[in-house]
Order: sequence, then C-alpha cells, then structure tokens
Amino acid sequence: MKNILITGANGQLGSEFQELSKTHNNFTFQFCDSQTLDVTNKDALSEYGKTHKFDGIINCAAYTAVDKAEDEYEKALMVNATAIENLVALARQKNAYLIHISTDFVFDGKKNKPYTESDKPAPLSKYGLSKRAGEETALEYERTLVIRTSWLYSAFGKNFVHTMIRLGQEKESLGVVYDQTGTPTYARDMAMAILKIIEASSDKGTLATGMYHFSNEGVASWYDFAHAIMKHKKLKCKIKAIETHEYPLPATRPAYSVLNKNKIKKTYNLAIPHWHDSLIECLDKIDL
Ligand SMILES: NC(=O)c1ccc[n+]([C@@H]2O[C@H](COP(=O)([O-])OP(=O)(O)OC[C@H]3O[C@@H](n4cnc5c(N)ncnc54)[C@H](OP(=O)(O)O)[C@@H]3O)[C@@H](O)[C@H]2O)c1
Repeated sequence: MKNILITGANGQLGSEFQELSKTHNNFTFQFCDSQTLDVTNKDALSEYGKTHKFDGIINCAAYTAVDKAEDEYEKALMVNATAIENLVALARQKNAYLIHISTDFVFDGKKNKPYTESDKPAPLSKYGLSKRAGEETALEYERTLVIRTSWLYSAFGKNFVHTMIRLGQEKESLGVVYDQTGTPTYARDMAMAILKIIEASSDKGTLATGMYHFSNEGVASWYDFAHAIMKHKKLKCKIKAIETHEYPLPATRPAYSVLNKNKIKKTYNLAIPHWHDSLIECLDKIDL
C-alpha cells in the first residue's frame, strides 16, 4: 500500500496526514476534501476511481458534530454510514485496502475496565449509532481495517483544546465535567501510528484487517484534560470540577470509554505516548 487516497483531508486527522506527507516520501498521497470528493456521492467516487491510481483509502471524512447529530440524524447517517457503502464500493473497484476510523462513543460506558475490540457496542447517541452503522458496513469488506479512537484533538481544526484556550482567555472560571473518563488522543500520534501500521504491513505484504483500538496512553476526565491545558498555557481561568447533569448537552456521552489498546500494540509493536506528553507537544504548536 503505497498510493493512498485520504478522504476528509481538511479535518483534524486528515490535516495531520497532510503535515506528515511532507516527511513520508515513501508514500504517495492524494488528499481530497468535502469539496473535491464528497464521500456521499457514489457516482463521484466511482468516477474518481476510474481516473486515479491508488491501492489504499484512509477515510478521515466524518460527520462529527455529536450534539447536532441528535437533530440531524439523517445527515450523520449519510456521512458516517451510507458513505461507507460508497467507499467500500470504491475500494472493491480498485482492489484497495480501506482504513476507516470510528469512535469510543459506540460504547455505553457502563464498564469500568478499558473496552476491548470484542466488547459489545451499545451507542447512547445518534452520532454513536451512525458511527456503529459505518463500522459494520466497513467490516463487510474483507480488506478493511477499522480503528476506533477517542477524544481526538489536534493543532488543526475545531476541538476541545482550542475551545478551552479560547474560554481560558475569556473567563475567570469554568465548570468542566469530571465524571466522564476516557483518553485524549493527539491526532498526530494516530496518523503516525497508521503510517507505521501501513509500513509494517507493506513488509509483510498484507494489512491486518478487522477491528483495532487506538488512543494515547493513560486515563483522564474532561476536567483533568482542561486543567492540563490551562496549566501549560498559563491561563488564569480556574477550572471547577462539575458533574455531567450540571452541564446538560443534547447527546448522552459514555461515562467511561477508555479503550484497551493491547491488540494494536502487540500486533504492530507500537509504543504509544502518554496523553499528557502529547498534549504538551500539541499545545506548544498553538500560539495564544
Ligand atoms: N473528534 C473526535 O473527538 C473523535 C473522537 C473519536 C473518533 N473520531 C473519529 O475520527 C475520525 C476523524 O475525526 P476528526 O476529528 O478528524 O473529524 P473532523 O475534524 O470533524 O473532520 C472531518 C472531515 O470530514 C469532512 N467531511 C464531512 N462530510 C464529508 C463528505 N460528505 N465528503 C467528504 N468529506 C466530508 C469534513 O469536511 P467539511 O468540514 O468541509 O464538512 C471534515 O474536514 C472520524 O471518523 C471521527 O468520527 C473523532
């Protein structure tokens, strides 16, 4: 897998691949965003397949507005599930591998031990349901690798880190929930892990298929995450630990969604950084 099509290339993860492409010369990348290649447009994908050469697809396109999805379920389903049928068709057309990204929000958060790939999904939100439908569709194709991740952030795009930095400059204090536990994941680490997986697979001639979990190491609450951001950016805003019911949102989140990464670490000999170390790396790229 050397010629890779990246869909949704202007999102957080897609942007990290764009950055990494500058130093990873052993791959040829084709970057497409929602304007140049709409993954919900089956004909456009088929046409793209007829005119372009690639042997792998990394799908970074998604509908990620978790709360809006409660009102826009059809739209979320279109991008997160129906479009995956289109991408599977494109992958079949090219006999290409498909790497698809999913989320910890497919779980209901009732466990208190990290979720493994064999744990049963039970999404609590429309976003989670749409992503679960997309996973199932992707896995119908025998050359698919699905990687679930959690709490993704990057120096690029809209995310919790940028929101906290903005609010940290505007407010004297801020309530952030401490009763939801997961792992923040730096999109750059995820993009690097995917390239490492592809490189390792190229040596063996085949890419592992099926479901894998990836996040940074360690565990945090959103409160811990926010606290670490304020501290490193020396923002005076005081973070107060609040409970989920004190900050009601349209979509229900899992109370616990730490992912067990043993499978991906063992299969690919990956050393995954702790979330706090990666957060500092990312924060140092963001100017106030
Ligand atoms: N963000 C998180 O906290 C999180 C957590 C766990 C898993 N994930 C998963 O990780 C993956 C990457 O997420 P991300 O945070 O990088 O997402 P993101 O920043 O929201 O980027 C998604 C990209 O998809 C594009 N897109 C939307 N509809 C499209 C369409 N019809 N055709 C082509 N492109 C389209 C968007 O373009 P426009 O902006 O132009 O619409 C955007 O650039 C997703 O599968 C997501 O579900 C994310």
